[in-house]
Amino acid sequence: MFLGLDVGTSGVKAVLEDEAGALIASTSRPLALSHPQPLWSEQNPDHWVEAVIGAVDDLARERPRETAAVRGIGLSGQMHGATLLNRDGRPLRPAILWNDGRSQAECAELERRCPELHAIAGNLAMPGFTAPKLVWVAKHEPKIFAEVAKVLLPKAYVRYRLSGEMVEDMSDAAGTLWLDVGARRWSEKLLAATGLGLDHMPRLVEGNERSAVLSPELARRWGMGADVVIAGGAGDNAASAIGLGAITPGDAFLSLGTSGVLFRVTDRFAPAPQAAVHAFCHALGGLWHQMGVMLSAAASLAWLARLLETPEAALLAPLGISVDRPSPVRFLPYLDGERTPHNDAHAAGALVGLRSAAGRGDLVQAVLEGVAFASRDMFAALARSAQPIEELDLVGGGSRSVLWAQIMADVLGVTVHRVEEGEVGAAIGASRLGRLAATGAAPADVCRKPQRLQSFEPRAPQRAAYDDAYAQWRKLYPALKECIS
Ligand code: XUL
Repeated sequence: MFLGLDVGTSGVKAVLEDEAGALIASTSRPLALSHPQPLWSEQNPDHWVEAVIGAVDDLARERPRETAAVRGIGLSGQMHGATLLNRDGRPLRPAILWNDGRSQAECAELERRCPELHAIAGNLAMPGFTAPKLVWVAKHEPKIFAEVAKVLLPKAYVRYRLSGEMVEDMSDAAGTLWLDVGARRWSEKLLAATGLGLDHMPRLVEGNERSAVLSPELARRWGMGADVVIAGGAGDNAASAIGLGAITPGDAFLSLGTSGVLFRVTDRFAPAPQAAVHAFCHALGGLWHQMGVMLSAAASLAWLARLLETPEAALLAPLGISVDRPSPVRFLPYLDGERTPHNDAHAAGALVGLRSAAGRGDLVQAVLEGVAFASRDMFAALARSAQPIEELDLVGGGSRSVLWAQIMADVLGVTVHRVEEGEVGAAIGASRLGRLAATGAAPADVCRKPQRLQSFEPRAPQRAAYDDAYAQWRKLYPALKECIS
């Protein structure tokens, strides 16, 4: 048996897979976010650990025999979050998360201090990444900065609490801006630009390598054996790729989770920072990937549902499984700023084109379309640096909606597939990495592509109407930027 643990932003997911790779059980525990100031986004690192232990407790209660038979664990996690530990391994402050926009000024500072940053890290300095957060802490919380002994990413902190080992995998490490992404090792130059050194970093392994062993106390608590291997694991997007069998250069998928991610596997380090494309290591040695990232994808629909005090399913149901024409209302999904293509932490969301005839359905449709238009922006950004993407799998919570999948196909002009287990893809990818580390199996034998449930083709009349709507929508961000501070 293998256990996959995904430390997400809105919750932790745990899945159990059997020796044949079949999903046996899955469970989740919610996590809360805190926004103590505008642009800030934080979580208490100990809540991740409590949620992970609680989720495995649930599995152990529901499936005691299968849980006890676990011999490999994989971890996946929200990327970039700065978890600052003192010399005793205790968090010094709440973790500063991937969707926190406070460090825009520090990004410019970092690029000034280290002009080679783009070439080594393969990315623009963006407030979501880890390094600028540390520059912010050094400036605004110098006492805390002085006490920092280690900086871990969210899933590495969970690993530390599960095993006592401080280890990070390459795919997540690439999102810190401290990794030499092409060479797959920490860059002393990038660390020095942040006032840190190699001592502040955990050991590095590939995602499918053994990183640690589960602590005896937890192994006893869950009835497991003495040598339960914990794999390096992966950042949540690379983990989703493993879950989707996206391990061949050119494989691509679109994830509609809290964030929206367009992911493409590459056979080499392929930076394209001008369009705010991310170039990171994949979770397997010798592979890399490119990513476009939008900060509020399914989070935009969740926001509307909260505002209208109506569950998402009830908002979507009246629209049916497809719409014939674009909504008269346009939505900019920049509720938490935006990365690809704007790299603007201060970008804000907008609903534009409201008339008294506008109904709730128009707003819901506008939100789905706004996320699709922003996905088209990411498509364009990735297309500049390699072959265009011709088809893609849709995963993440948003992939539950058939309507959204059809809108994506119409707006993007490519075939979109809904796949089996697309909502727990990162946790499945994590458990596969656990299997690879525990058994030494070949990735190609384990990382199989999931069954496709349904495929959506772009429809010609809607595609044309969306081309026009997208052209209008593109003008909104530069126009509104002037009016929002
Ligand atoms: C990727 C990113 C997000 C988080 C979400 O760069 O910031 O996708 O990983 O969990």
